[in-house]
Amino acid sequence: MSQNSVRTLELKNSALRLSTTLATEADKVVIEDILQRNRTASLLRFSTAGSVDDGKSTLIGRLLHDSKNLFEDQLNSFSNNSGGSNGALSLALVTDGLKAEREQGITIDVAYRYFSTGIRRFILADTPGHEQYTRNMATGSSRSDLSIILIDARKGILAQTRRHAFIAALLGVPQFIVAVNKMDLVDYSKQVFEKIGKEFSELAEKLGIKCFQLIPISALKGDNVVTPTKEMPWYEGPTILEHLERVEIEPASSLEHFRFPVQYTIFANGDHRAYAGQIASGVIHVGDEVTVLPSFKKSRIKAIEVTSPGLKQNSAIAAHAPMSVSLSLTDELDIARGDMLALSTNLPQSSNRFEAMVVWMDDQAMNPNRYFILRHTTSEVKAYVEKVAFKYDIDNFSSLPADTLHMNEIGRLSVNTTSPVFFDSYRANRATGSFILIDPATFRTVAAGMVVESGREENLHRTKEEASELKRVRPANLHQEKSAIENREREKRFGHRACTIWLTGLSGSGKSSIAKALERNFFEEGVQVYRLDGDNLRYGLNRDLGFSEEDRIENIRRAAEVARLFNEAGMVVLCAFISPFARDREAAAQIIGKDRFIEVFVDTPLSVCEQRDPHGLYKRARCGEIKEFTGVSSPYEAPHQPDIRIDTSNKSVEDCLAMLREPLQNLIVPSYLNK
Ligand code: ADX
Repeated sequence: MSQNSVRTLELKNSALRLSTTLATEADKVVIEDILQRNRTASLLRFSTAGSVDDGKSTLIGRLLHDSKNLFEDQLNSFSNNSGGSNGALSLALVTDGLKAEREQGITIDVAYRYFSTGIRRFILADTPGHEQYTRNMATGSSRSDLSIILIDARKGILAQTRRHAFIAALLGVPQFIVAVNKMDLVDYSKQVFEKIGKEFSELAEKLGIKCFQLIPISALKGDNVVTPTKEMPWYEGPTILEHLERVEIEPASSLEHFRFPVQYTIFANGDHRAYAGQIASGVIHVGDEVTVLPSFKKSRIKAIEVTSPGLKQNSAIAAHAPMSVSLSLTDELDIARGDMLALSTNLPQSSNRFEAMVVWMDDQAMNPNRYFILRHTTSEVKAYVEKVAFKYDIDNFSSLPADTLHMNEIGRLSVNTTSPVFFDSYRANRATGSFILIDPATFRTVAAGMVVESGREENLHRTKEEASELKRVRPANLHQEKSAIENREREKRFGHRACTIWLTGLSGSGKSSIAKALERNFFEEGVQVYRLDGDNLRYGLNRDLGFSEEDRIENIRRAAEVARLFNEAGMVVLCAFISPFARDREAAAQIIGKDRFIEVFVDTPLSVCEQRDPHGLYKRARCGEIKEFTGVSSPYEAPHQPDIRIDTSNKSVEDCLAMLREPLQNLIVPSYLNK
């Protein structure tokens, strides 16, 4: 057995297996040595974007062959079948072999090829280039550190190149190699290469691709793939392999975003529980405080058991992504598959509504009236597409109006789920920012999605209508007159600062009662205070508004504007609004000013609110008499980091007052006014 064959490992379906039989003791030593080097060398995941016509299979074959990462039997098969022109090996056969294997599998769209050099280990996600390329690219590129974009030197940048670059950029692939292939067929022309380079740079600028290396190659001849060529003395840059070996890899996930989707609960020795799963991102230590989602219960990490590849368990004081671990907590909590543990100081968002970029993968167009199963980390929930905001014209990256998405199309959707999902934006965390949609009838994966950061502008993704809508927000030809009285002067007179205490929560959660009690209490202590209540405002200022999403947005916007005016007058405002959407509360905070906005989450469970049902509205909502009722037929997005959280379940109004008075008092009377 040669060293080449020993070094070839294939990673498939995440199971690393040695593809050769261990024949002799000497072989074992060699393998141990190689495995040891592999363990210490850094790992680069990369994918290729391009079709067979661009020479993708040949490039992969050449890369593996020249870096001495091929099986002997594979080499023999090339010489027997040498269909390649000019007597060259038919390197495409390497990947064709993989393709055949792949076609036997039902679920594997992407074959992972593992290889290594002394400097680095590589996992190549080999995605077939047929018409379902978006599906395969989405699968293969979503975890890649680098994408190789292949361009045929004779053809230059085609619509397909633009699509590939677009999808890879969208998927957040940080590094690119632009391999201008078939240079032998354009006489190794520097001008041809430079022209393509210039065009690609323009494309990269549009797509926000910052790190890319242009390399002129001939995969067939082996020029600049692994070994530098003499044919292009004008090119002084690295070969493909050299670049793959040297390029800097960004850490896969930031250390602080600890996310642990629970796969299953282990009951050991009767009562002791541990939670098993794979750390999706971040680091965790024994003693760290974690919050369990969706219950928001807190506990500390008592022990970490690391599952090693030999399936042995070892205790550890810390663990990080992507380790498989089981965690036990200092408290016995009820935690099940689909729950998530996160560091209490850094929680993901929790909502049943979010915006996402979605790649549609099914040959049947999306039917927005049906529900889907949304699989996100280890959880599955029912999901509806609330709205298709737009789809992309991938050829020029503009957005087009759309009601549905067809195969290979990419669009932006508002997604609603029947229970909350704990996510980060895809940009912040690829593991918790991505999901797939499954057709409940066929169980086929029909879409891959990426959560878009809420409130953050997407540079590429705004339609003209949306842009003009934004402009309308601040009317032209107006000038704001500044007050002749300074804030500090009012503060001094009233003895406290002005701020808005914003109570959010379900109907019946206790917001209005708490706000009323606080208003009385503050008033008696000499605070200039005024209460704004959802129900009350809807009798007057907001009498033209109902409970559609659009009307609720406007309801909250007006309430926030009024609160701001009262604050400008130096007063403390107590706002009690369901304000079910996180985005609208964020907008209210912007209007009022973040330093004046105090968010109090009246976190009373739906079951309790429904039992109280002070005005019989839940009952009516349940029989369908009231439409879009929050908590019943319209979602409530819980704040994930409110300033204060209170559950009123077993508390009287006086209890709540006693709990809230002091923290609020400290917030509204700053130390300089206390003196
Ligand atoms: S918000 O959702 O727009 O913030 P707001 O706090 O102003 O709501 O008003 C909520 C009050 O309106 C509830 O306390 C309830 O009395 C009444 N109401 C009537 N219809 C609905 C509905 N469909 N959903 C929620 N509240 C409703």
